[in-house]
Amino acid sequence: MASELGLAPGKAEIKRFPDGEKYLRVLSEVKDQHVAVIQSMHHTPDEFLFEFLLLIDALKDLGARKVTSFIPYFAYARQDERFKPGEALSFKTVSKLIEAVGTDEIYTIDMHQHRVLRSADVFRIPSHNLSAMPLLANYVRKEGRLRNPLVIGPDAEAEQWAKLASETLGTDYDVFTKKRFAADKVEVSPRSANARGRDILIVDDIISTGGTIIEASRILHSQGANQIEVACTHPILATDALSRIKQAGVLNVIGTDTVPGPISFVSVAPLIAEHIRKTTS
Ligand code: R5P
Repeated sequence: MASELGLAPGKAEIKRFPDGEKYLRVLSEVKDQHVAVIQSMHHTPDEFLFEFLLLIDALKDLGARKVTSFIPYFAYARQDERFKPGEALSFKTVSKLIEAVGTDEIYTIDMHQHRVLRSADVFRIPSHNLSAMPLLANYVRKEGRLRNPLVIGPDAEAEQWAKLASETLGTDYDVFTKKRFAADKVEVSPRSANARGRDILIVDDIISTGGTIIEASRILHSQGANQIEVACTHPILATDALSRIKQAGVLNVIGTDTVPGPISFVSVAPLIAEHIRKTTS
């Protein structure tokens, strides 16, 4: 990110005490500075979240003029509702903590917004949800493996990403409907799309267990689709999700580096850099 912007990155030391507690020390001079903090919360979300809270609180305490946070993968956003009595509203808790330490402005990328539809419904500070979908669709276009693909969003929420990707690719899109029975069990049904003879690009925000993509691919294959590729912003890829998706007949799976991993072919650095330029100009 810093090299995209032609800047030197700020420095911090982070380590763990023998008793398991975290230690964080800001090494750069931040007094009166506008500081951009970039912290994704993947795979060990509690750890990344806590580092983030220590860092923001320290920056404000050390006299930073403004702290703008970029959270490429925002963990806990899916627990935005009490699905069973007594459940914690994790999304709300995390948002409150982020504000409480003094974050002035927040940027997320394709943050899960299913029932909560706008960042402004959760945060009182200025908040912006960017999308990596045009970057992903451009990558798919440049790779050139798909011919006039039909873009499919596997559930209602994915319509926003299907629309963005199809605009970038200059092609059409449709959206399925999805019912989730458990964390790893979903049922997907087509709305109107007929995939017969078409190349397909399935787009989604997150691939976690892979259940959603596998179920959508099964339906598309049964409709007679040609080759299927998948693009997602956050490739969490829990356990063996990637190999199960490939076994389901998906040729390529593409993700971004909001969650660094084996399919992080697209970097969100230019997207964040563009907004850092805007917020600091
Ligand atoms: C949920 O609504 C999200 O948009 C994704 O479709 C979901 O998180 C994918 O999860 P999984 O890969 O476990 O089906």
